Amino acid sequence: MTIRFDGRVAIVTGAAAGLGRSHALALAARGARVVVNDFGGDVHGTGGSSEPAERVAEEIRRAGGEAISHGADVANPGQVADMVARALERWKRIDVLVNNAGILRDASFAKGTLADFRTVIDVHLVGAAVCSQAVWGHMRNAGYGRILMTTSTSGIYGNFGQASYGAAKTGLIGLMNVLQIEGAKYGIRVNALCPSAATRMTAGLLPESALALMTPESVTPAALFLVSEDAPSRTILSAVAGGYSRIVIEETRGVYLPHAERTPEAIAARFDEITDLAGALHSEEPGGPGLRFLKLAAAEAGVTLAGFAT
Ligand SMILES: NC(=O)c1ccc[n+]([C@@H]2O[C@H](COP(=O)([O-])OP(=O)(O)OC[C@H]3O[C@@H](n4cnc5c(N)ncnc54)[C@H](O)[C@@H]3O)[C@@H](O)[C@H]2O)c1
Repeated sequence: MTIRFDGRVAIVTGAAAGLGRSHALALAARGARVVVNDFGGDVHGTGGSSEPAERVAEEIRRAGGEAISHGADVANPGQVADMVARALERWKRIDVLVNNAGILRDASFAKGTLADFRTVIDVHLVGAAVCSQAVWGHMRNAGYGRILMTTSTSGIYGNFGQASYGAAKTGLIGLMNVLQIEGAKYGIRVNALCPSAATRMTAGLLPESALALMTPESVTPAALFLVSEDAPSRTILSAVAGGYSRIVIEETRGVYLPHAERTPEAIAARFDEITDLAGALHSEEPGGPGLRFLKLAAAEAGVTLAGFAT
């Protein structure tokens, strides 16, 4: 079945260029009315103009779609509230939020400043929370919402010089996990996209031959699926150069140590077994797979556990 967004309203942050622009154009091409957000600064987050966002909105309108632009800084609650108010004023609904805006302030941890660290966290992590909160009440009332976070391998796997960025991007996984639980009964689904694409953010980082294969347009189908009506929730999809995969957090089976054996030396002695990935567990439940140890602890202590299904 063709995935369409007719009648839906989508906000895409950071949509003047790169991945956000590609997502916005594709959403509009499939029927969505799009708020093209971008503060229009450089890759480090300085400067600013609403013109680049307006250019993409104009591109959508020229192609026969519906779009407005807004130059809000995603980390500024007042500006974001204004953007949401304008979207609601115009179209009376907001169905989709793609949290895509982002900047870089790369530096080794030794050389980076805390001011830059805070700025990066502010744009990626706090910015996504500001935008999500601004649409949350509306989505709850409507009983429908799709929110997408944009994470990164730099946080999930680590990358030299990107402490701030990596921390912010992995923080978004935590935000997704919790919002997904809190939104479930209101029809709100929250997912994350882990893209790799040739944009100004990655310019010069990889050979041109590789970048030529890593088009934003090859990432966008994953984004669109994750904000579609039949989207899953709490799913992290990686998308790079036409490859799509799921990233999950797993926990090893581990060991249960009886009370008398809980020493650092026992951890050292059993470290290989504790960290053995064979048969690793994945759980969508709050608390994760580790909660099953409570049963063993309860049996050892001779107590009855109430309210634990694990
Ligand atoms: N390109 C990649 O390989 C890659 C990999 C992992 C994650 N990402 C993430 O994908 C997203 C898009 O990045 P991109 O590669 O397209 O880079 P990009 O620089 O082309 O796009 C980011 C856009 O966000 C806008 N923006 C920045 N700060 C903003 C703010 N405070 N408010 C509003 N808009 C703001 C910028 O003006 C820019 O247009 C980012 O969150 C980035 O961290 C990209």
